[in-house]
Amino acid sequence: MKKTVAIDGPAGAGKSTIAKLVAEKLGYIYIDTGAMYRAVAWKVLDTGAGTTDEAIIRTAEKLHVSLRFVGDNVRVFADDTDVTEKIRTPEVTALVSQVAQLGPVREKMVELQRGMAKDGGVVMDGRDIASNVLPNADVKIFLTASIEERALRRWKEMKAKGYEEPIENLAAEIEARDKADSERAISPLVRVPEATLLDTTGMTIDEVVAKVMELCG
Ligand code: DC
Repeated sequence: MKKTVAIDGPAGAGKSTIAKLVAEKLGYIYIDTGAMYRAVAWKVLDTGAGTTDEAIIRTAEKLHVSLRFVGDNVRVFADDTDVTEKIRTPEVTALVSQVAQLGPVREKMVELQRGMAKDGGVVMDGRDIASNVLPNADVKIFLTASIEERALRRWKEMKAKGYEEPIENLAAEIEARDKADSERAISPLVRVPEATLLDTTGMTIDEVVAKVMELCG
């Protein structure tokens, strides 16, 4: 039977790296829900219509976000623009928590996410997957790591993309986003009691993948 696997956790915990590798091993589809909120944030900045809550909601209402397969890779589209790389800039990262706390934006994205998971065979990562999007997921994992380790991982990721940001700034940005994501009123980041807690501090990618595969049984 094809399962649904929900992976939640704070920023920089390694969710997307792990979820992608696990999906590949299982022959499942990987769904990056954070990328969907990022696509909305990108569109808001691209249209230049301002970043008030009202302007963001209006932009999200008109926007079609989709994840499409191009060869073996999942690409993120905002309408017909491939934004896969564009959504990883510091500007998008700075805006995305505000976008993700808005009820109408979340409702639209959650509906899309549930539709993509309806036949199973998906590994979905985000903040509210086990608690809200897929409460009946077969496997629920809460992935985390120390703030120092998460900041270091983000630093390496950014450096590889040509961004030189002091590590202290990244740690502060991650902490601010964790706070915003955990304290928002609608579908905050929470660990549901039935989720397996996996602290990846000091673990290699291979070790984490092996552990998650074991949990997927
Ligand atoms: O995982 P990420 O950094 O790409 O996520 C971007 C933002 O979107 C993050 O600040 C929290 C938010 N998000 C959310 O609220 N719900 C999700 N299911 C996924 C991400």
